[in-house]
Amino acid sequence: MTDISPHQDTPSQGGAPHGSNGHGNAPARLGYSPVADIPHKPRATDTDPKAARRAERQVATMFLLSMLFVVLFVVAYIAIDPTAVVYIPVLGAVGASNVALGFTMGMAILLVGTGAIQWAKKLMPDVEVVQDRHDMSSPKRASAEAEANYERGKEESGFARFRLIRRTLIGALVLFPIPLVVMLRDLWTPDEFTKGKSPADLLSTTLWAQGTRIISDGTYQGSHGGEDSGGEVAGEVEASEDSVAFRPIRPEDLPVGGLIAAIPADLPEVEELEGNFNARGKAAIILVRMEPDEIRSQQGEGWDYQGILAYSKICTHVGCPIALYEQRTHHLLCPCHQSTFDLADSGNVVFGPAARRMPQLPIGVDEEGFLVAMSDFQEPIGPSFWERG
Ligand code: FES
Repeated sequence: MTDISPHQDTPSQGGAPHGSNGHGNAPARLGYSPVADIPHKPRATDTDPKAARRAERQVATMFLLSMLFVVLFVVAYIAIDPTAVVYIPVLGAVGASNVALGFTMGMAILLVGTGAIQWAKKLMPDVEVVQDRHDMSSPKRASAEAEANYERGKEESGFARFRLIRRTLIGALVLFPIPLVVMLRDLWTPDEFTKGKSPADLLSTTLWAQGTRIISDGTYQGSHGGEDSGGEVAGEVEASEDSVAFRPIRPEDLPVGGLIAAIPADLPEVEELEGNFNARGKAAIILVRMEPDEIRSQQGEGWDYQGILAYSKICTHVGCPIALYEQRTHHLLCPCHQSTFDLADSGNVVFGPAARRMPQLPIGVDEEGFLVAMSDFQEPIGPSFWERG
């Protein structure tokens, strides 16, 4: 139907006839809005009973197909081996069960939704209605009363009359938040180790400096140089009985594929003086060794020593200490939330919630052949919010 005609009466509109403007002669039935007095183009299903029945069958078919897909979902869940794999172009090899369950559930939902839309578009009432917007302003009397209340308060308090009081009150209120800001300073109480350093300095520097010796971390015990079982995931290459605590490390102490937890040589003394582990929380590192040609990139040129790389031990997500190292892939895995860092590729994040790569410490050897740092870290260690702050 292509003719434009005034609305016809629509029973669902409660008898408000098309052609009445909804504002006057024919009030709308309770729960219905008045029909707008504008030209209306009826749909085929409004004028042709056959078209209406066809639309009804389409909608019902979609709902029936939706039921069928729900049944297929249950069948797929029971019948398909969860380990079976199918090849799908573009996606590659994917789990057959996942594909079947996803497809059937998706189709079931899609068909219910499409059927509902079709029902609304073709069979539900098709009318333009009018709904008046409510008056947004307050009644005049309420506005006048509020204004009078304000004037009475101003008059009775003398706010306008006592200029001195008004000005000093404003001054007092402006200064009031200052103590709250000043008290923030208590968050950082300088002691003999932190005096003269700003909080920013303290957060962005560690004990590492050029020439600082790297020593094995005395917080773990064991036998040195062991490979993990199966050679897949390496925990720390544990210090030998004769090299347990705080021992300087030579390059030959670390085999290819191994990992040693280490700290700066002056850390034990600093910890004893400070009586806390704050310095360790920033300076702890791991040393890993790989064949030099396996190193794809580093954070600075020549920051390794003969394939030995030093990285912070503190996860850049929320700061867990990490020492789970997979020798074959050179991935370092954080046990807390599974962030994974590729130590052969600048410590970049390859998986997990960490937003920032693992900071690398440049290393070399001193004249006695022990591993030393060549500088402090060049970027903040620990959780990423240091960087954003
Ligand atoms: S602390 Fe390492 S992934 Fe969350």
